[in-house]
Amino acid sequence: MWSDELKLTLRDREIPVRFAETGIEWAADQIAQLLPARPRVFVICDSTVALLYEWRLVERLRGNGLEVTTSNLEPGEEHKTWRTVSRLLDKMAEEKLSRDTVVVGLGGGVATDIAGFAASIYERGLRWIAVPTSLLGMVDAAIGGKTGVNHPLAKNMIGTFHHPLAILAPVDVLKTLPVREWNSGSAELVKAALLSGGELWEQVERHGPNLLTWPREILFRALVDAARVKVQIVAQDERESSVRRLLNLGHTFGHALEAATHYEVFRHGEAVFLGLRAAVKLSEMQGLMPRDTASHIERILSQAVTPAADVNFEVLLAVLQHDKKIRSRALNWVLLRMPGEPKVTPEVSDDTVQSIALWLCEQARSGIEQGKERTIVRVLILNGPNLNLLGERETEIYGRITYAELEERLHRFAEDQAITLLIRQSNVEGELVNLVQQSRYWADGIIINPGAYTHTSVAIRDALAAVTLPAVEVHLTDVAGREEFRHVSLTAPVCAAVISGQGTEGYFEALHVLKRLIEKSVPLRTAVGIKDMSEY
Ligand code: DQA
Repeated sequence: MWSDELKLTLRDREIPVRFAETGIEWAADQIAQLLPARPRVFVICDSTVALLYEWRLVERLRGNGLEVTTSNLEPGEEHKTWRTVSRLLDKMAEEKLSRDTVVVGLGGGVATDIAGFAASIYERGLRWIAVPTSLLGMVDAAIGGKTGVNHPLAKNMIGTFHHPLAILAPVDVLKTLPVREWNSGSAELVKAALLSGGELWEQVERHGPNLLTWPREILFRALVDAARVKVQIVAQDERESSVRRLLNLGHTFGHALEAATHYEVFRHGEAVFLGLRAAVKLSEMQGLMPRDTASHIERILSQAVTPAADVNFEVLLAVLQHDKKIRSRALNWVLLRMPGEPKVTPEVSDDTVQSIALWLCEQARSGIEQGKERTIVRVLILNGPNLNLLGERETEIYGRITYAELEERLHRFAEDQAITLLIRQSNVEGELVNLVQQSRYWADGIIINPGAYTHTSVAIRDALAAVTLPAVEVHLTDVAGREEFRHVSLTAPVCAAVISGQGTEGYFEALHVLKRLIEKSVPLRTAVGIKDMSEY
């Protein structure tokens, strides 16, 4: 189990921010450790998270000798209102919670913001603990002590600063996070990477802006690193009077996009992704960021999945002005010289803002159509030993297309088909086993050419059998027509289909087949083999 701890150092105390690659029970044990006096605990979460995790948390807390009461909220940003808090306070009063009760905010950013806020005003402040269960919560929302709700006139307008005793992130719960929430949370991590530069940004460059497809260990490290960026900034400026403003990178336009579409079109992070692209464009237009750097970053950020939205230009501008008036303050634009070198500036001409807003409306329109994103499938393509040598290896048998060309063509094809793809090659059996195992956290299906391990690897076969994902086996050559030792495949019986003898085209065919299998939710392990594929 990977685990890590950061410390948010404030003037008067230190707040632990703990990450562990494990489930919700770990958070319960941590809470019990933090509360040796065994006070009463009041758990607040929304009804979706309640079904998935609350009962397990509560059971474990009780097992640790804590008295627990719970309250469930309606899920969704639209319920992040004063009315919800007012009802919650009623319940807290009915339950006769005393000043030593500890509130646990369990869930995404909305739940932890509301829980922290209710905790901060009930009886002039109860202690609370944040247990974020979303990516956005873990890297951003739960850290920093901002609590609150939206006002009809502006987002997060009503609230307090009230830090939790601790922030506990059980990373394993992310496996139930819906795809759009992954996209949304990815934006805050990418924002942190742009602010920090260095290793975190390099990972974004290497693996792209959709964290869902990142290898598990790298993802874990990146979550901690992104949280560290936030922790360091908050420690310097708890009340957002100076450097904390940097955390608004991408948020001025992001918030405006959300408001201009009445919070009905974008998840917060989806709007932030567009906002980050706008910030990069603005940085270039202000002469701060060299054009090459801006194009390079835009190429990476534009791979983020955002919904297609008809954003009215006039409305977008009006919202930007409105925000300024309501909060009676100048808009501060957070720009970048390059990743790792942010700069705040209030001086951006109206003309520049307008042209960025126009560009943003165009970009928003060319997102993924509503509804279509539901059909995005996530596929792991795994290639075994020696396939990295395609194009130079026995070309009369395996052809002249190089491995790099194959990868490139597959990525292009996947983009067209709304398939999120992760392609990996390894000559090492254990690595292939690890990749198959990790895929159960994020993928909808697997395409595998195990190479020579096809004929020998019980371990890869077992891994494929262990993950409940449909798999398609691919071979460039017609293995059945080659040497006898290639006639046996240990992996084929645990795959839904086998495609062989079609050269590199077999991978594209496999993607078609797999997509159908996923869309039709075909029962797994049907082992149709090379036999009758026509049905798919
Ligand atoms: C292969 C067939 C295997 O027998 C061989 O060991 C490979 C490639 C194919 O794609 O045809 O490496 O999987």
